[in-house]
Amino acid sequence: MVVLSGKEVANSKLEELKSKTQSFIEKYNRKPTLAVILVGEDPASQTYVASKKKACIKLGYGHKDYVLDKEVTQKELNSLVDALNEDNSVDGILVQMPLPKHLNEQEVIERIRSDKDVDGFHPINVGKLLIGLDCFVSCTPKGIMAILDYYHIETQSKNVVIIGRSNIVGKPMASLLIQKGRDATVTIAHSRTKNLKELTKSADILIAAIGRANFVTADMVKEDCVVIDVGINRVEDSSRKRGYRVVGDVDYQNVSAKVSAITPVPGGVGLMTIAMLMENTLESAIMHEEKDN
Ligand code: GUN
Repeated sequence: MVVLSGKEVANSKLEELKSKTQSFIEKYNRKPTLAVILVGEDPASQTYVASKKKACIKLGYGHKDYVLDKEVTQKELNSLVDALNEDNSVDGILVQMPLPKHLNEQEVIERIRSDKDVDGFHPINVGKLLIGLDCFVSCTPKGIMAILDYYHIETQSKNVVIIGRSNIVGKPMASLLIQKGRDATVTIAHSRTKNLKELTKSADILIAAIGRANFVTADMVKEDCVVIDVGINRVEDSSRKRGYRVVGDVDYQNVSAKVSAITPVPGGVGLMTIAMLMENTLESAIMHEEKDN
């Protein structure tokens, strides 16, 4: 059994980006810059935003951080996005999701200029991805592809089952895998899927993106399966100082004993998401410079 270390792949990617960033700064005399907007005080979102800032500092990127009150109006949030859209020193804009209920997430996603949409959530980028054009790709699916590439896991003619149909993971993951060159046969399962176990047992590659701790059990996978665990679930654990531990969507202990390869949690897909965000931001900066010159 191979442990697919997202940590190793992410570190290798970050080293590559660090050196490319130095060349960018020398060439264009400015830093690639990411603006991150956090609304409210959701603890998980605070953690994610802090990791993004840390990654920017580590790689030598510029970063602009905005923490808005949870009562902020749509109009105020839109105005901030508009200002960042206009700001030529900003290459990427990320609004941390989920937003408080009174705000319209889709409106915000569509307000961000598609050439600064380093999350790859804008309908223009989602549409381009589906038809195989160059675009910003959602960071988690892009990170999963990078893990598969790093470990030389072939996708051609493989049966891939994705559990979860979210716009952030499930749908873009399927779009990537069905493209020419990747050539996978993809099934997306979700909460209304019948006979889920039958389906998952047919998977050569199983991607779990459900958001439920330990949902995928050993009886649901076949023996030589490659398992990608996208879950980041906090479960109570009084033995930990912070009162919880983080587990994936897969029952790691029992599933890892059966399959041929698996991503751990933590240390798997989550770290790749940030590395890919950094890659998208640098690509955006290069694109902006090349367009202007
Ligand atoms: N919330 C959970 N994942 C993500 C992500 O990749 N981007 C943003 N903006 N919000 C998220």
